[in-house]
Amino acid sequence: MTNANKQTIFSGVQPTGNLHLGNYLGAISQWVPMQEQYNAIFCVVDYHAITVKQDPADLNKRIVEIVRHYLASGINPKKSVIFQQSAITAHTELAWILNTVARISDLKKMTQFKDKAGKDQENVSVGLFDYPVLMAADILLYNTDAVPVGEDQKQHVELCRDLAKRFNHQFGETFKIPEVIMRKEGARIMGLDDPTKKMSKSASSPVNYIALNDTPEVAAKKIMRATTDSGTEIKYDKENKPAIANLLTIYSLLDNKTIKELEKQYIGKGYGDFKKDLAEVVKNFLVKYQEKYNSYTDEEIKTILKQGAKKIKPIAEEVLNKVKTKIGININ
Ligand code: AMP
Ligand code: TRP
Repeated sequence: MTNANKQTIFSGVQPTGNLHLGNYLGAISQWVPMQEQYNAIFCVVDYHAITVKQDPADLNKRIVEIVRHYLASGINPKKSVIFQQSAITAHTELAWILNTVARISDLKKMTQFKDKAGKDQENVSVGLFDYPVLMAADILLYNTDAVPVGEDQKQHVELCRDLAKRFNHQFGETFKIPEVIMRKEGARIMGLDDPTKKMSKSASSPVNYIALNDTPEVAAKKIMRATTDSGTEIKYDKENKPAIANLLTIYSLLDNKTIKELEKQYIGKGYGDFKKDLAEVVKNFLVKYQEKYNSYTDEEIKTILKQGAKKIKPIAEEVLNKVKTKIGININ
């Protein structure tokens, strides 16, 4: 399946909660142009989702929904591979092996674990703690060159690099060391209600995020209600005007205009005009997005997932087999 002349990218999204504009702008939309120059592999990471409690029926629906989001965003299954993590058992097998290389102290440092576990670190699942090791397995199984993600995943990719290097050092050259790729602007979209915190599907206020399946009208209202900074000028200043900087980033990415162009467009105008126009941009984006989102049947999606897994399973198995040989458990 993979073209030896092209580099490989791998990324994934968990089938949990509602996908929001942060997921789209920070991660998925970044993948779309990359399909042309890379062997691109996009995963629905269902085994990651179950590290926190899920309703089984809900989870089942969300797996299909993530693929809809990929397709609505412009991921083309003729160009890229889309597959379900649990369909390829090599992921959990390699995760187990990497568990013997990872250290408890590495995992204790992970910001996402600390955030998700909160004060109750002893009572969350072992899976939540081990989550970054499974993510490392996902990446390393496909000889991945680069991992395009939002900023909150950078630390996990760095851990993956460390594990790969440690393994290579111990057992000889086996894994390719992947790079992280992040957008210059948009790798961390902030909450609309609080520009000091990232936009998050687990935020307590629904005004925090624009879900990709919010009605366009509701989304427009959320933009109008978004927090702004003191002053009146539309100027990109992350330090002093984090709310406007965040809205400018969203505007710029959705409307394909540079931040400089937008600043110029709004000279002499106030926050009200700016938000009204951005609300319109968001509305138009969602109308088109949702039309595409709704244009696929569940059957089509299941076929895409099955074909995707079939295409790349041999790569994962080859890498896993190499690993098994290196650690001495292959008796064939
Ligand atoms: P998740 O929903 O946690 O599986 O995240 C899917 C992708 O969206 C990952 O690449 C994240 O880094 C990215 N992402 C999540 N939240 C944000 C955000 N607020 N801004 C930018 N990227 C984000
Ligand atoms: N942990 C990532 C997130 O929450 C999802 C993920 C799992 C991932 N495996 C991956 C992303 C491999 C990139 C590569 O966003």
